[in-house]
Amino acid sequence: MSTLSEPAGQKARPAGERAGTATQWPADRRITIRDLQAATDRGERWSMLTSYDTLTAGVFEQAGVRALLVGDTSAELVLGYPDTVPVTMDELVPMVQAVVRGTRTALVVADLPFGSYQAGPAAAMANAVRHLKEGGAQAVKLEGGRRVLPQVEIMVGAGIPVMGHLGLTPQSINVLGGVRRIQGRGDAGDELLADALALEAAGAFAVVLESVPAALGRRVSDALRIPTVGIGAGPDCDAQILVWQDMAGLTTGRLPRFVKRYTDTRGRLLDAALRYVADVAERRYPDQAHSYS
Ligand code: KIV
Repeated sequence: MSTLSEPAGQKARPAGERAGTATQWPADRRITIRDLQAATDRGERWSMLTSYDTLTAGVFEQAGVRALLVGDTSAELVLGYPDTVPVTMDELVPMVQAVVRGTRTALVVADLPFGSYQAGPAAAMANAVRHLKEGGAQAVKLEGGRRVLPQVEIMVGAGIPVMGHLGLTPQSINVLGGVRRIQGRGDAGDELLADALALEAAGAFAVVLESVPAALGRRVSDALRIPTVGIGAGPDCDAQILVWQDMAGLTTGRLPRFVKRYTDTRGRLLDAALRYVADVAERRYPDQAHSYS
C-alpha cells in the first residue's frame, strides 16, 4: 500500500485497505464483472493470472485467483513463437475452452489476438463472439485506447464484457521497435490517462496497465471507477496480473523487474525429469511396485 497522501479520486480507498473476505465471492457460480467491480468498490485487492490449460486453471481457481486471462502470451509460452503477433483465433479458442472446462467460478477473459480486431468493429465483434460462443469465455481483452473505441463500443453494446490494455502493448512490437519496458513517462502519462478514461466511458469493465511508472498506475487507478489491473504498474492498482510461468519460475533468463517468482517450477521439473531418466537408464524404474502382477 502506498504511503503517499490520498489525492482526490473517484475511488473510495478505505483507510487501511483491508484484505478481502472470501465469503464475498460466489462459490457456486462464475464470478462476473459486477463481482469484480464490487470487490474494487469495497477496497479489496484481487488477483488474476494467465492460464492456457485445464490443470493450471483449476489450481489457480483453487488458490483464489478470481479471473484468468487466456492471453496471447501463449504465442510465446505455449506455441513457441518469437512474440505475440503470429497467434491466431484458431489457436487461442481451444486454450479458452480448456481453461473454461477446468474452472467453475473464475471469470475467464480471452485475448483478442493481433489481426482479430484492428480492421474495425465488425472484425472485433465476430472474433469476440467466437471467444464467447466457441470458447465459453465470459469476457475479452484487446490492446489500445482511443484508437479502438469503436471496437469497444460495439462489443459492449452487444453485451460482451471488454477489458482494455494500456501501457506496454506487445502486439505493437513492430512500431515500438522491440518491447520497450516502461511506457507512459512524462507527457505520455497524460495520453495514457486520457485513453483509460475513454475506455471507461466506452463501457470497458477494467483496464490492464502494463509496465508504467507506479505513480501513473496510482493516478489512473484514482481517476477511474472501474478496476485497474496492474502488471508492472506499482502497488496501487485495484488488481494484479502476472503471466503464470513468470510467477511460478518456469520461464528463464532476465525477466522484467516487476516479476516476482514464487517458486522454482523449472528447477523442480528438471530435477524430476533428470531422476526419471536416470532411473530408466539404471533399471530402477519401473520396479515391482509400479508393475502389474
Ligand atoms: O497476453 C497476456 O498474457 C497479457 C498479460 C501480460 C496482461 O496481456
